[in-house]
Amino acid sequence: MILTLNSEQQACVDSIHGNYVVISGPGSGKTSTLIRRYLEMISTHRIPSSDILNLTFTNAAATEMVERVGLADAKNVFRTFHSFALDLLTKEKEHLPYKVGDFILPSQGQDFQLLKDLMRLYPAITSFRSLRDKVMEWKNKDIEPAQAIEETYNDTKGNAFFYAAAYRDYEKRCREQGGWVDFDGLIKDTVKLLESNNVVRSRYQRKYISVDECQDTNAAQFRLLQLIYGGNIFAVGDENQSVFEFRSAVVGNLTNFSQHFPGTKTLYLGANYRSTKSIVEFVKKITPVDNGIASHMVSMREQGTKPTFIKYDSDLDEAAGILDQIENLNNTAIIARTNRQLHTFQKKSSRFGTGLQRSGLPRIGHIFLKWLRIFLSVCPMEPPLHGNFAIRS
Ligand SMILES: Nc1ncnc2c1ncn2[C@@H]1O[C@H](COP(=O)(O)OP(=O)(O)OP(=O)(O)O)[C@@H](O)[C@H]1O
Ligand SMILES: [Mg+2]
Repeated sequence: MILTLNSEQQACVDSIHGNYVVISGPGSGKTSTLIRRYLEMISTHRIPSSDILNLTFTNAAATEMVERVGLADAKNVFRTFHSFALDLLTKEKEHLPYKVGDFILPSQGQDFQLLKDLMRLYPAITSFRSLRDKVMEWKNKDIEPAQAIEETYNDTKGNAFFYAAAYRDYEKRCREQGGWVDFDGLIKDTVKLLESNNVVRSRYQRKYISVDECQDTNAAQFRLLQLIYGGNIFAVGDENQSVFEFRSAVVGNLTNFSQHFPGTKTLYLGANYRSTKSIVEFVKKITPVDNGIASHMVSMREQGTKPTFIKYDSDLDEAAGILDQIENLNNTAIIARTNRQLHTFQKKSSRFGTGLQRSGLPRIGHIFLKWLRIFLSVCPMEPPLHGNFAIRS
């Protein structure tokens, strides 16, 4: 279906040459506008698609964009950061300072096993998860093992140095055992290659780059953007929808965009096409960062049912209070931020016998993230009111 764009969306579509950032709330048509802009670029402006790269985060998001574009070669233009990096490293493997195998990426089991084996060498590291998270954090912050070791060398209080040493050994073993670059290393190693090799870099620079969900970029991904920047960039995002902080996302990459790309013009979209008027009014009251956008958002939909905001004194009260209000389990979903909260619901749900099932959190995929984003845009991580709360509509 071809959307009739509003004037703010049309202004974004017309903003092709130069640097632009669109900071706007949920459901305002950021992704739709980005896609329409691409179609205009290749049809009206006759820009070759080989000059264009549209980056996003998950495979599902990239696939959805390709489907929305509906053109056969769109999958070469709408890419995830990781697929772009994997492709680049695979094609340019002879320029890497180490030897990689035919299959660059280890399976998740293989890389985890290497890390687990290293824990035997470093008894001070007692939690696999903390080691995995630390290694991931360093990579996403574009920090090499040598730098991690240097930074932690004088840490006499904690065991940070052992983590850094394990990181160094892990990288070495990845190379030696399988010729692997792991998932988080894809971006970091692509950045290193592009920084050190201008010939390769010039092959991958794109004249026109766009980025969806820019608030989710981490340091390594943002550095990659800077390296492949070819004169024109268009980034869209919403600082209130950052869900990748656990992957070291830096919201400032969106909000300080113009410092990184001088001359950037900021654009806004004020109409919300997804949520009812009641929801949008509610969001305006509780949005954690009022950047002046949330308070100006107008819903283009019907009034809808009013959401209810209830504060509870404890998790148990919250679970009991919400369960009390449920009449029919078949059309009800309870969404909680932590597994602990879901356990509390289960404990308190005896009224429903075994009826209350926990579906758990699915693997982070686009559908879940989409859902989580919409949910978070209604229910911020740190509500301005303290205490427990529940929201229903
Ligand atoms: N001008 C328009 N007219 C009608 N519907 C629109 C218009 N613009 C966007 N929409 C619809 O609004 C919905 C949200 O659009 P879209 O996903 O592009 O928003 P978004 O800002 O990217 O959302 P998010 O913040 O969740 O990423 C979609 O169903 C889209 O088709
Ligand atoms: Mg979007």
